[in-house]
Amino acid sequence: MSPRKIIIDTDPGQDDAVAILLALGSPDEIDLLGITTVAGNVPLALTQKNARITCEVADRPEVKVFAGCDAPLERALVTAEHVHGGTGLDGPDLFEPTMPLQDQHGVDFIIDTLRAEPAGTVTLCPLGPLTNIGAAFRKAPDVIDRVQEIVLMGGAYFEVGNITPAAEFNIYVDPEAAQEVLASGVRVTMMPLDVTHKALTSRARVQAFRDLGSRVGSFTAEMLDFFERFDVEKYGSEGGPLHDPCVIAYLIRPELFSGRHINVEVETSSALTLGMTVADWWGVTDRPANALFIGEVDADGFFALLTERLGRL
Ligand code: BDR
Ligand code: CA
Repeated sequence: MSPRKIIIDTDPGQDDAVAILLALGSPDEIDLLGITTVAGNVPLALTQKNARITCEVADRPEVKVFAGCDAPLERALVTAEHVHGGTGLDGPDLFEPTMPLQDQHGVDFIIDTLRAEPAGTVTLCPLGPLTNIGAAFRKAPDVIDRVQEIVLMGGAYFEVGNITPAAEFNIYVDPEAAQEVLASGVRVTMMPLDVTHKALTSRARVQAFRDLGSRVGSFTAEMLDFFERFDVEKYGSEGGPLHDPCVIAYLIRPELFSGRHINVEVETSSALTLGMTVADWWGVTDRPANALFIGEVDADGFFALLTERLGRL
């Protein structure tokens, strides 16, 4: 089977960076058409830079990286330096990337790509707030029907929130964009905190990256050494959750994951529960299913895949 064409839409973020590396290490399954960046974990000037740093660490400077929206569709930006550090990619020694940032706006790249490729052949992989996808759908509604699938990291139900008691960060930052994506009719697969909090690093799992003995391996281990401290302190777990790589791992090995086709709506007005993903897991409404909401992952299989694919870079 030919590799699946994807656009990664991202706000790196250490876990975003690992997701990009997983895609770059998996050319048999993944054809990465481009990376669009968005404001989220840190402002856009840093996320676009961090995406380029990540590609250069993987020695892939030819990857097309675009800057997209610098603020949510209708709200002021909320960032997460308390999790990711001031650069968004704290941990390893960072450097100024030399590969170019593409001139085109990320939203226009998404639109043009969906129009240029045969309908139903491009999958969008949002790993941050859904601003760029929402903006593309608002600007060019004709592209909505052309999307093969959206596989995204975002939301939480049984695991409740991480940025507020009710909301997960990516959805909270741009709830209007998230709701519009869920209402678009596109096939959506969601990786909420319910599953990503089962994809936890451990000393042995991070050491396996370090033991690769490569630049990618040590860069990844140094990122994760920093990244996991936040969740270790907060939850008392041994490690931190590799949220965003779940999206790419699902495309490569979907059998590692399971979930339910359910209705998911996003709260966009309540001050208390803004950005909450109201997931009808138990089917107690007659609202139609609009997402595959993932709840389980084979964590050992997931980390084995990650280590093997990063080892190819
Ligand atoms: C999500 O928010 C960011 O901090 C991570 O990169 C991930 O995409 C988890 O809530
Ligand atoms: Ca992210």
